[in-house]
Amino acid sequence: MDKKLLKKEYLKKIELFDNYSKSYYDKNNSLVTDTEFDYLKNDILKLEKKYNFLKDKRSPSLSVGFKPSKNFKKVKHRIPMLSLGNAFNREDLNNFEKKIFNFLSLKKDKEREIEYSAEPKIDGISASLIYKNGEFIQGLSRGDGVEGEDITENLKTIKDIPKKIIKDSFPSEIDIRGEVFINNKDFKIIANKFANPRNAASGSLRQKDSKITSKIPLKFIAYTFGYAKNFKTHSQTEFLNQLKNWGFHTNRYNKKILGINNLIKFHEEIENTREKISFDIDGLVYKVDDFELQKRLGFAANAPRWAIAHKFSANNSTSEIVNIEIQIGRTGALTPVAKIKPVSIGGVTVSNATLHNEDEIERKDIRIGDTVTVERAGDVIPHVVSVDISKRPKNSKKFVFPKNCPSCGSKTIKDFNELTKKEDAVRRCSSEGFECSKIVIEKIKHFVSKQAFNIEGFGKKIVENFWDMKIINYPQDIFNLDYDKLKKIEGWGNQSVANLRHSIENSKKISLDRFIYSLGIRHIGQENAKLISRHIKSSANFFKLSKEKNMAPLLNIDGIGETQINSLKNFFSNKSNLKIINELEKILNISSIKKIDENGLLSNKTFMFTGKLDGISRAEAKSIIENNSGKIVSNVNKKLDYLIIGSKPTTKKVQNAKDLSIKILTQDELMKMLNMAS
Ligand code: IVH
Repeated sequence: MDKKLLKKEYLKKIELFDNYSKSYYDKNNSLVTDTEFDYLKNDILKLEKKYNFLKDKRSPSLSVGFKPSKNFKKVKHRIPMLSLGNAFNREDLNNFEKKIFNFLSLKKDKEREIEYSAEPKIDGISASLIYKNGEFIQGLSRGDGVEGEDITENLKTIKDIPKKIIKDSFPSEIDIRGEVFINNKDFKIIANKFANPRNAASGSLRQKDSKITSKIPLKFIAYTFGYAKNFKTHSQTEFLNQLKNWGFHTNRYNKKILGINNLIKFHEEIENTREKISFDIDGLVYKVDDFELQKRLGFAANAPRWAIAHKFSANNSTSEIVNIEIQIGRTGALTPVAKIKPVSIGGVTVSNATLHNEDEIERKDIRIGDTVTVERAGDVIPHVVSVDISKRPKNSKKFVFPKNCPSCGSKTIKDFNELTKKEDAVRRCSSEGFECSKIVIEKIKHFVSKQAFNIEGFGKKIVENFWDMKIINYPQDIFNLDYDKLKKIEGWGNQSVANLRHSIENSKKISLDRFIYSLGIRHIGQENAKLISRHIKSSANFFKLSKEKNMAPLLNIDGIGETQINSLKNFFSNKSNLKIINELEKILNISSIKKIDENGLLSNKTFMFTGKLDGISRAEAKSIIENNSGKIVSNVNKKLDYLIIGSKPTTKKVQNAKDLSIKILTQDELMKMLNMAS
């Protein structure tokens, strides 16, 4: 059949499917029988499988169930809902605990094992329930962690959620957080409408008519809290007991456990009984039990230092490598990807598996035509674990990694790492800035991504399409789209263009750290972007920096070293980058980073450490100072207010400080200053 005709047929089916779904979910009205509905969906999926070029962004394979309604009000969480880091094995857990010991400056010995609250990680949808004076007044979905959707009415239909709590011990204001999910048994009844229980929970929670939600037997298990007024508890296990006492359901498998070895035993135990548990779990969550320790440990960029998710073991499968393709990332890194014959691994169809880098292919001698074991764990990209050499075709040839960029033809290079004195494993395209189209596309994807400009509805596929159609060539083009022209493109209508326009306009107001991160400068991730923005304060200063290329203002930031400075210099010395920054300066409204608390005890004061502290790590001391509005710097100069000395300080630093009449404090004196002396 002719391609155009096929596409037309395919889109017609999608439109029909959309109509059926909308009617079912939004109006509670089935236009066809469930079987007809399923057949139609199957038809669409089969067509996509057979004709790769067909796949459309509205395909039911991409949005399971139905699209969440755009009509929910967005509400900011009073305390952000963060995610957790993942561990897959003992090594990951040891590293997790090592970081805790280092941060708390504790020595690891048998006597000092940490107590954890181990809790099954339910694979559902998290929600935050706001209670005032014992009454459930508002419920939010997690959203992007900072802002959630107001899904109060739907949450109210869940029987497990107490609507009123009359207990003296219940705080006057508290956000109770937990997981909304569906039992496997209940899922079976509606399994034809959703790909898995998680989608079923998410779908039912985020649709408009709460009457429909009420028909789906959703459950709620509570496990933590966000904001709480005048509330004191000592540990997570104590809190879990309180939750029960207030009338919430908690997980019956929750257990207090001492040390990593016992955690691993418990993990094995639960993994083996997983089948018997009546809902889906994808691992265990371990939380340092003691709230005092949790408070000291605090948070890294997106996750707490005191908790981790230990996922259940990966699923494997064998398949055959059909081809090896090279993907190019936004920093020019060349990543080899194996295109494999599609296999189902743990319920998900996998047709791509990463081969990591050139060295990995070389080491495992991976070739096109090889039969390989592919592993998929959690949401991590599937990867090739090993090659079955016995099945290798006779005429197979070693894979030759391209010495030129497959996209722009530039030479590819491997950087030399000054620290390890070794060549990098990663090969990169040597072109700078915007000469390599694949790099540009990736840069733009990064620019619009969630952690950067967060332009809703501007996904990766759209970036690729707009690039192909030459609608965008540079990031700033996003803000100068011709919306009338867009409306004429297949797949775009008045409403979708209006939505896109709305998201784009909204994104023009952006914080300085997000803006810096969005530029995709090598070695400047979220954390470093935050450090820089906190230090230089305003976008005007950043623009000045880019124009004058004078990095002096950055030389004294603790955490920003030579690598980052060189990378920034490099970035600012490129004409295309400067042009982009100049254009964006005219378009955007960049706000300075929000101060954590400008009025702390150490406000406007700068600190530096030398020597080893007693009973506390540098990282923790740093976070204490920052929590009290003080600033840490990395050099002794006139701008330094206090030099804190531990044991064996660097003599030169102390002498410099004396010469400049900078105050020198011992650790005890610092603690007194903070009213923290023991
Ligand atoms: S604690 C900062 N406890 O896992 C701590 N999360 O990747 C945040 N989850 O978004 C969560 N069971 O949806 C916590 N017992 C449990 C959990 C749990 C499931 C989910 C939750 C969260 C995600 C973290």
